[in-house]
Amino acid sequence: MAGEISMIGSVILALFLAGYLGQQYLPPPKPKVIGLDLGTTFCSVGVFHPGSGEVEVVADEEGRRSIPSAVSFTTTAVLAGHEAVDLADSNPQNTIYDAKRFIGKTFEPEVLERESARYPFKVINNNGSAEFEISTNHTFTVSPEFIGSRLLLKMKKMAEQQLGVPIQKAVISVPAEFDERQRNYTIRAANLAGLEILRVINEPTAAAMAYGLHKVDVLNVLVVDLGGGTLDVSLLNKQGGMFLTRAMAGNNKLGGQDFSQRLLQFTKERVTQEFGVTPALKEDIHRLRQAVEAAKLNLTVHPTTNIHVPLHLQIQDSSDPPKKVMFNAEITRKQFEELNEDLFQKILTPIKIVLAEGYLEKEEVDEIVLVGGSTRIPRIRKIITEFFGKEPNTSVDPDLAVVTGVAIQAGIMGGSWPLQVSALEIPNRHLRKTNLN
Ligand SMILES: *[C@@H]1O[C@H](CO)[C@@H](O)[C@H](O)[C@H]1NC(C)=O
Ligand SMILES: *[C@@H]1O[C@H](CO)[C@@H](O)[C@H](O)[C@H]1NC(C)=O
Ligand SMILES: *[C@@H]1O[C@H](CO)[C@@H](O)[C@H](O)[C@H]1NC(C)=O
Ligand SMILES: *[C@@H]1O[C@H](CO)[C@@H](O)[C@H](O)[C@H]1NC(C)=O
Ligand SMILES: *[C@@H]1O[C@H](CO)[C@@H](O)[C@H](O)[C@H]1NC(C)=O
Repeated sequence: MAGEISMIGSVILALFLAGYLGQQYLPPPKPKVIGLDLGTTFCSVGVFHPGSGEVEVVADEEGRRSIPSAVSFTTTAVLAGHEAVDLADSNPQNTIYDAKRFIGKTFEPEVLERESARYPFKVINNNGSAEFEISTNHTFTVSPEFIGSRLLLKMKKMAEQQLGVPIQKAVISVPAEFDERQRNYTIRAANLAGLEILRVINEPTAAAMAYGLHKVDVLNVLVVDLGGGTLDVSLLNKQGGMFLTRAMAGNNKLGGQDFSQRLLQFTKERVTQEFGVTPALKEDIHRLRQAVEAAKLNLTVHPTTNIHVPLHLQIQDSSDPPKKVMFNAEITRKQFEELNEDLFQKILTPIKIVLAEGYLEKEEVDEIVLVGGSTRIPRIRKIITEFFGKEPNTSVDPDLAVVTGVAIQAGIMGGSWPLQVSALEIPNRHLRKTNLN
């Protein structure tokens, strides 16, 4: 009996090895499984190339590797990504964004009403679930998962165009805090786009995989994800090739927008000082906002930057036409940091919470992984480095870390990594995220 089993074992091993060796002499197969990051504000699709062992994040015709998570409905078409954003100003009621915040969730009616007040489109309460009301030639409603499906379909097509083969299978990432229902609705979105989901993985786990942490000997990994509007901190624990989320905490009202807002306020005050008039016209505020956003990005690489903004200052209680002026200013990184120091320090609060909940000292964290565009800010990297007394892992583009990890998992699922160690994820059903704001 035991002999038979070991015999079967040897046959299986031999077949496996034959397959593996055979593969060495064939042209590298095309990836069959894609990795999808369906983000709240941006989405990306990646593929793992078995030949080179590299992940490629698929770019559109214009070389952009992320598409905005927006879908716009017109009388003649449903557009997704950049094309939808281009319509956001002219078609605001029918351009849906942030759908991920609603997918698979049930709401108390008051909560949903409060949420929908923040958007230019109509959010309807359908027995506790959110739906969006669209009015083109006729009025109809669409679900958050339908919005998700249009974005996923767009990414599926981008990947098919890039690879030249039809794609039916994918791995997708979701926030660690997503419950089973939110995960199911995310899968439903993919199914509506004609994709079968082979695995759903947590975003922080994907980010850790982007750094190859599934292949090296680490125990505790801390993932800090700081995006435009939210901060998420997760503590992962790897045991026997499995990642387990030990603790999660975050602040859903802290992110890049807040840092820009501080810089905008500061800039407006400088306009007032210089011209004796506070900018109030919508267009002026819009131009200033764009200028400070660009300045913020520039200050990540340069110690100083200059802004030049044409303004039409309207003197209050005056019937004179607005005064045309050119506002020029130098902004230093130091000023930007001083304006935001208290906000930057707030990043440590959820970090301390996950350490406490995971019963870990900060010295016991083996690797720190930074995700999200705002983690490029040098002062933020410094605060985290000083807190832990070690450098975080930052070599992967923080906007693409999640999709990179999902694509690696897709490569594993697609059988591209024969005889390779791979990490699995154990879902932690009993975990709750601590939210501060
Ligand atoms: C909506 O109306 C326009 C003309 O106003 C027409 O061309 C278009 O086909 C209609 N779309 C739908 C979906 O009925
Ligand atoms: C509304 O939701 C509740 C539970 O969430 C369910 O029991 C009920 O059948 C639903 N009603 C309708 C009309 O779908
Ligand atoms: C999620 O989907 C699985 C498989 O289809 C099903 O067994 C489970 O009941 C679903 N859970 C929820 C909360 O919808
Ligand atoms: C950033 O600012 C510096 C100094 O004003 C300027 O020389 C540089 O061109 C700017 N770079 C970008 C990418 O805007
Ligand atoms: C980042 O991750 C890799 C594992 O892939 C590790 O070897 C490296 O030391 C880490 N740390 C830094 C600061 O890059």
